[in-house]
Parts: sequence; C-alpha cells; structure tokens
Amino acid sequence: AVERTFSIIKPDATARNLTGAINAMIEQSGLRIVAQKRIRITREQAQTFYAVHSQRPFFGELVDFMMSGPVVVQVLEGENAIARYRELMGATDPSKAAEGTIRKAHAASIGENSVHGSDAVETAAIEIAQFFAGNEIVG
Ligand code: CMP
Repeated sequence: AVERTFSIIKPDATARNLTGAINAMIEQSGLRIVAQKRIRITREQAQTFYAVHSQRPFFGELVDFMMSGPVVVQVLEGENAIARYRELMGATDPSKAAEGTIRKAHAASIGENSVHGSDAVETAAIEIAQFFAGNEIVG
C-alpha cells in the first residue's frame, strides 16, 4: 500500500550541510518528499516525540542532542514507505549499517545517527501529526 512515513534529518547532519545529500538518497530510492521544513525542536517537542524512550538511560542525552541545532522534519510517501525508509536509513548503530545506507554513509554514532524514520503505520501517523498540519502535506 502507499504509505507516508515521518523523517527527521538530525542536527549532526544539518551541521555538516548534508540535507541535500540525504534528500538525494531519499529521492533516488523512489520515495517522494511530500512535506518538509527546517525547524528547531523545543525541549517539550523532543520529550513528547521520544516519550517511549523516557525511561532509557540515554533519554536526556537524546533530547539535548535533538535540540542542539536545526533539524529538517519531513513526510515521505511511497509504496511500503515505512519499511523502505528504514532500509535506506540502515541500522540505528552506524557501525552495523549496511553499505549504501544513509547511516553508513553519514552517521557518526548510535546517538548522532543523522536520521529518524517511523517504525510502524500507527507511529508514522502520530509523528506526522506532531509536526505537520494536513494542508502542509502536498502529495
Ligand atoms: P531514533 O530512530 O531517532 O529513535 C530513538 C533514538 O535513540 C535513536 O534513533 C538513537 O539516536 C537514540 N539511541 C538509541 N540507542 C542509544 C544509545 N545507546 N545511546 C544514545 N542514543 C541512543
């Protein structure tokens, strides 16, 4: 089915001027960028977004990192978009990411791993709604 997934180009990537390089990998994979904006995430937004990880030891570090610079939030659309984008991103730990993936090419560490992508249809809908109004998504 045609799906939409939520993507974040994280501060480590925007700091190194990699927005275009990552977008090129997304578009070359056949996914369509149907919404996109560059923002600074507030502490409240980061804590809400990563609430599922609130009890993990790295939660504070994760929130601080996501606030450390600009991010680019996106909606990607395509057939089976959620799984396809996770495959394109590569493993969370870049040292385990496959050749040809965004994290293999660009990410520095498990924390500073350049991109986020939704893990399921339900979370994609929640994550998209946190950052985009319906009329900001143009398919
Ligand atoms: P993301 O896909 O955005 O969702 C949760 C994030 O937590 C994950 O990417 C990593 O950036 C981060 N994360 C996961 N494990 C660790 C860890 N051990 N240390 C720091 N950050 C982590």
